[in-house]
Amino acid sequence: MERRRTAILISGRGSNMSALAAAAMEPDYPAEISLVVSNRPDAAGLVRAREMGIAIDVVDHKAFGDKAAFEAALTATLERAGTEIVCLAGFMRLLSEDFVHRWHDRLINIHPSLLPAFTGLNTHVRALDAGVKLHGCTVHYVRAAMDNGPIIGQAAVPVLPGDTPEALGDRVLAAEHQLYPRALALVAREEVRVVDELVRFSTPPAKPPGMLLSIG
Ligand code: GAR
Repeated sequence: MERRRTAILISGRGSNMSALAAAAMEPDYPAEISLVVSNRPDAAGLVRAREMGIAIDVVDHKAFGDKAAFEAALTATLERAGTEIVCLAGFMRLLSEDFVHRWHDRLINIHPSLLPAFTGLNTHVRALDAGVKLHGCTVHYVRAAMDNGPIIGQAAVPVLPGDTPEALGDRVLAAEHQLYPRALALVAREEVRVVDELVRFSTPPAKPPGMLLSIG
């Protein structure tokens, strides 16, 4: 089986990167993690990636005069590694239209909310403030607008009485670690494609999800 060469872009802790890398260690997983790139030299995820035996690189945005130069270096790094798919995993730089266009429908992101609700930062605080009863995470193809683009998959978790942002965030993060490897597998196997800016499945998912009811 041909495994799709996948790069992961991180800015910090890299727990989603670790989840993807762990999934890719399975022999029948359709993607291989060929490179982890951070825009921050001190990202903890770089250490973890190295421990897992994955090639790492740093493209420090602070070393470039403008976004175009930073992104040109990023693309050169990705191309050198023969990258076919790019996964954003806690990569906290907004990417330009040019970069997004260069990797059109080969660039995916995970966001800690049920999009289109709560784009941007502090999603768990905002979910609690809004009083929603379900929260979760989304994997989507990246478009130039922040946290926007055709949705590949979502995982929902209940908001529980007495939740703090930290407790809710931990519950969502555990769901992220389940969702992202499944979504990348769909993309790598070309079981999904974008039609009219919506994600279509070539074969329906094996098990239709049941209802997740959360009251209280
Ligand atoms: C994750 O919760 C991810 O969904 C979020 O950053 C965290 C990174 O954690 N991404 C965004 O907010 C993107 N808008 P990690 O470094 O442990 O994977």
